[in-house]
Amino acid sequence: MEKKRVKSIVEKYMFPTEGTSYMGGLENRPVIAKSEGRTVWDTNGKAYLDFQSGQMGAALGHQHQRMVERITATMQSLMHSSNTMLNVPRLRLHEKLGKILPRPLEKSVFLVSGSDSIEASIDLARKATGGLDIIGLHAGLHGSTSYVTRSVSFNWDRKKHVAVAPHTGSVLTPYCYRCPLGLKFPKCEIQCLSASLELADANFTATPAGFISEPVLSAGGVIVPPDGYFTRVKAECDKRGMELIMDEAQTGLGKTGKLFGFQNEQRLKPGIIAISKHFGGGLPISAVCTTADVAKRAAGRGYFATRSHATDPLLCAAGEESLDIVVEEDMPGKATQIERWIKSAFRKMAKDFEWIGDIRGRGVLLGIELVSDRETREPANAATQKIYEYALDKGLIFQIRGVRELKNVIRLVPPMTSTRAEVDQAMSILYDAFSELKKKGTKRKATLRKKR
Ligand SMILES: Cc1ncc(COP(=O)(O)O)c(C=O)c1O
Repeated sequence: MEKKRVKSIVEKYMFPTEGTSYMGGLENRPVIAKSEGRTVWDTNGKAYLDFQSGQMGAALGHQHQRMVERITATMQSLMHSSNTMLNVPRLRLHEKLGKILPRPLEKSVFLVSGSDSIEASIDLARKATGGLDIIGLHAGLHGSTSYVTRSVSFNWDRKKHVAVAPHTGSVLTPYCYRCPLGLKFPKCEIQCLSASLELADANFTATPAGFISEPVLSAGGVIVPPDGYFTRVKAECDKRGMELIMDEAQTGLGKTGKLFGFQNEQRLKPGIIAISKHFGGGLPISAVCTTADVAKRAAGRGYFATRSHATDPLLCAAGEESLDIVVEEDMPGKATQIERWIKSAFRKMAKDFEWIGDIRGRGVLLGIELVSDRETREPANAATQKIYEYALDKGLIFQIRGVRELKNVIRLVPPMTSTRAEVDQAMSILYDAFSELKKKGTKRKATLRKKR
């Protein structure tokens, strides 16, 4: 499709979006026409390595062959069905998910989007505990519905919304690279949590119901909380009668090298987890998973969650196939291998490029934080943007992330099926991007010296 036509459709028919916002300026980005595996093509036939896995829904790769076959077969027999009746794919998915969930998690409710699953998780925590207040990390993001999930997405501006849900509040993110208390782990003894909870206790306006967090804070800049953090959170939740909700949208189903991201802390047992993104292998389906005890308490207070398409046989069959692929094709193992390749490539690059301040993340959810000075850790927002633009031009897609106004983390989310050759190609593009930036910086310094 020609650039002119794209622009005219955007201007005439699309809802306007401010140029500098998250969804602004889409008309200047590639228009995607086709995808397969780890590659997407734009309307000019230019190929890109998709190291953000679509909007993280293609973590199995685009059009995984088994997904295509299963979806096609289901479409021909049973696409949509009432959620007031059971259907076979729905039952099979409850059973399959229930069998792979780490105990005591075993029960599930299906929904459509990630935001749905978070709203339903929050409702579940409230009904199960009889409480109301929900707290989450200030660099967290949990959805885009304009009331509840945006209200707990503290990493997005809550003030952009008409109304913020009452009984929601944030606590400090354990962002060790930029510790909000200026301390160092493990000497700090995770004081960010104790201080945050002291304040939260003073601020609660009702009985607290839940603490929500991503196991790795993706949009906040791929922040990995320190070892033992969530075990401490869970103990504090237990003291207050609150449920720990783990938002596994971006970390679940293999991506962090474990089946679920929360399993990176041994013995952690959250009462509620939410999964979405690649759960449907490219189609939208999400789930809230919980224990028999939480489910019983919530059901006793009339808990209810569904959507018209929540239990569609088509989506449930997609969910079942993606779970089979994750387990049978050892996606957690593949993610771990990719993490090793990418981290090792960046450790080497860090010797040549001072911008590389921190290399972090788990599995295929990785973040490279760029700074203009390793001592002061001054965020290098402009350099990150230049790296992004260079990479996109050379055929590599990723997103820039960070805490609130920081836009200095290269977030790489390659599909778990990425090959060594594809990872090497992406690393080589990024190496060239840094080299180009260094060359330009050196030239600029020389010109400035001459002028002086
Ligand atoms: C951690 C997390 N939770 C929830 C959501 C919301 O998912 P959805 O966009 O499918 O509603 C997102 C979206 O990116 C997310 O990153």
